[in-house]
Amino acid sequence: MTTCMKLLAKTLHGLEEVLAEELELLGATDINPLKRAVSFQGNKELLYKCNLQLRTALKILTPIYYFKAYNERSLYNKVEQFDWSKILSVEQTFAIDSVVFSKQFTHSKYVALKVKDAIADQFRKKTGVRPSVDTKNPDVQINVHCANENFTISLDSTGAPLNQRGYRDNQHKAPLNEVLAAGMLKLTNWNKDIPLIDPMCGSGTFLIEAAMMATNTPPGIKRKQYVFMKWEDFDKELWGKIYNEAIESITKSEFRISGSDVSQQAIDISRQALLNFDFNRDIKLVKSNFNDLRPQSENGVLIMNPPYGERLRETDIFALYKMIGDHLKQSYNGFDAWILSANRDALKHVGLRPSKKLTLFNGALECKFQRFSMYKGSLKQKFVDSGIR
Ligand SMILES: C[S@@+](CC[C@H](N)C(=O)[O-])C[C@H]1O[C@@H](n2cnc3c(N)ncnc32)[C@H](O)[C@@H]1O
Repeated sequence: MTTCMKLLAKTLHGLEEVLAEELELLGATDINPLKRAVSFQGNKELLYKCNLQLRTALKILTPIYYFKAYNERSLYNKVEQFDWSKILSVEQTFAIDSVVFSKQFTHSKYVALKVKDAIADQFRKKTGVRPSVDTKNPDVQINVHCANENFTISLDSTGAPLNQRGYRDNQHKAPLNEVLAAGMLKLTNWNKDIPLIDPMCGSGTFLIEAAMMATNTPPGIKRKQYVFMKWEDFDKELWGKIYNEAIESITKSEFRISGSDVSQQAIDISRQALLNFDFNRDIKLVKSNFNDLRPQSENGVLIMNPPYGERLRETDIFALYKMIGDHLKQSYNGFDAWILSANRDALKHVGLRPSKKLTLFNGALECKFQRFSMYKGSLKQKFVDSGIR
């Protein structure tokens, strides 16, 4: 058994609770949802599992140093007081990224620069040499979090964020962040026994994330690199065991997932990304305008991320959202329809009352994620009986 340590999983706004649930299932203890992060306790094994298995985490950090600093000088001094040779050697490269919410420190890049200088100067004073910075592929990635005068310095075990799953390089317009897509699916309470449709699938993010969930495929199955693999204490054997166990627990494609899009290019890109997976033939893909798409089941979850209208005239975007609402009403009785959009005015043109409203961020864009429950009377009861709600 390796020692237990405090760990922190970073995520996106609104996904803290679903991430906490994922952590519980992986065996984490002392789980505490925070703002865009969840803290927990675990050992090295859990750290590796989190990187491979968590669908709604962006990074897994191990906090190593807490301190208070009130200005640039005290920040530099505090960083210099830590013995950096414990985690870094002059032969290794390093990089710093920082997140800052502070009145005193207003530029995150400047904070990162100060921390970098203090670390490099400590090595130079002790050994006459400074370790080099490599922002693309460092051996040691250091994360600085500043909330007013409170600083936490952590080792980033992940490197490139976990949404970089490694299953696609060709992207259609505005693909969703994979972590956001996985979190949204979890927020709908969808599971593999319920049919799922994304009628505006773009590059297929919901379809792939859903199929990975349904088959218990680890989200990191296609990813080759994590920074912890470069750490001195990297346990290759333990990682191999965790990876193989995860692969062995992949299940058969027993799901009903389908996607469509009005653009042939989107369908081609989705198909291309799907080729990475054994379940690629089990996801139905068709080119269709949503207006012409008829459901193939009596009930299910429909999830969509329509255009927000940046490239369209206002009248056209309102007409698109009106069409969505009208078509849901006419053809999708029995479905829970979830729509993500940053265009609140357009969402009003759906013309249906949402039964749930959540706030999420697609990049910097604040979005509403709304559920429209398309069933009434006996259909509603049927849905309840089938365990869908
Ligand atoms: C924001 S993108 C979706 C991105 C997608 N969620 C992803 O992760 O790649 C919106 C998609 O809606 C499609 N679309 C727009 N109007 C449509 C319509 N009337 N019927 C079907 N698809 C439509 C566009 O072609 C585009 O691929």
